Amino acid sequence: MGKRIKANVTWVGKVDWELKKFHGNEYSTHRGSTYNSYLIREGKNVLIDTVWNPFAVEFVDNLQKEIDLSKIDYVIANHAEIDHSGGLPELMRHIPDTPIYCTENGIKSLKGHYHQDWNFRSVKTGDALDIGNGKALVFVEMRMLHWPDSMATYMTGDNILFSNDAFGHHYATERLFNDLVDQDELMYECIKYYANILTPFSPLVLKKIQEVLSLNVPIDMIAPSHGIVWRDKPTQIVEKYMVWADNYRENQITILYDTMWNGTKIMAEKIAKGIREKNKDVTVKLYNIAKSDKNDIITEIFKSKAILVGSPTIGKGISSGTAGILEEIEGLRFKGKKAAAFGCYGWSGEGVQKITEWLKKSGFDLMNDGIKCLWNPDQESIDRCVAFGNDVAAQA
Ligand code: FEO
Repeated sequence: MGKRIKANVTWVGKVDWELKKFHGNEYSTHRGSTYNSYLIREGKNVLIDTVWNPFAVEFVDNLQKEIDLSKIDYVIANHAEIDHSGGLPELMRHIPDTPIYCTENGIKSLKGHYHQDWNFRSVKTGDALDIGNGKALVFVEMRMLHWPDSMATYMTGDNILFSNDAFGHHYATERLFNDLVDQDELMYECIKYYANILTPFSPLVLKKIQEVLSLNVPIDMIAPSHGIVWRDKPTQIVEKYMVWADNYRENQITILYDTMWNGTKIMAEKIAKGIREKNKDVTVKLYNIAKSDKNDIITEIFKSKAILVGSPTIGKGISSGTAGILEEIEGLRFKGKKAAAFGCYGWSGEGVQKITEWLKKSGFDLMNDGIKCLWNPDQESIDRCVAFGNDVAAQA
């Protein structure tokens, strides 16, 4: 059943406790997720977004317990991605003529996904839809935050920003509001979401937030499409986004490595020792790439001022796990971070150079040409790794 977020606005989404992977296998959701849909009952009845399609029938069944579907005047599709639009085919089977408001790109995307010619109405930033009782929905295009079609919808009178993916997080909870959940869990899921999904769009995030703030409208609630509704100090998450979007760095160095016979692992540990020797304040974290969750690693990279990436040379290249995380790192276009490479080798030893080149093309500021050790590190190599860590601490 729905849950009231205000007298006239009801959450009618789905809490997905079982979800452990999202975007296929691309995003880990250790704490599940929610697909938030909202029903507004004013002079007009409006549904904002739906749910992922495995839950479409359940969603529409529950919605029918809230409202006679034929009494829904407008559907708002803030974003065409399947986790929010997946309930549309089932819903529109019942109400095929009901208008769907979305951006022009939203129409293209929805048609691309579902091949249906529904009653689309395209909207642009600043367009308003009167919903009666002196209230309106005002649309704000959020192009590339994070898809070309994304938009947010602001409800006047109740001052609710339905922000869709922005300010969201993958976090299953039966408690609807930010002040009712564990704050550390919540903020971890928020920064993980930002790091893994929004990092490449940070310049746009800053611009869009400034644009919304310049409207100078009151915001009583931010209701995203995943996770909790921000009702306690709702703009706290907006302030976080402004910090995260500005080349975010903590006093942290993250060391990522893969290893076959522990040689590159020993290098990682000795480099960490060298960093700590020179800088007692810096947080140093080590992750074995093959044994760690890649989205958690990305979150740690996001928080870091520098990263070190290590792999043994395999053939003439690097381990597939290291290549996988480097591909991910390149796509996220981190800015303002330093990096270097390391690794063991047995004969030809191209791995370090390959990682170095990959880090360079991914926009990292290289601290040096990297360090490599022949076979398993001996005492001389261990001393070199510690000295390398000393140098990294001085440069990072
Ligand atoms: Fe939650 Fe971009 O979909």
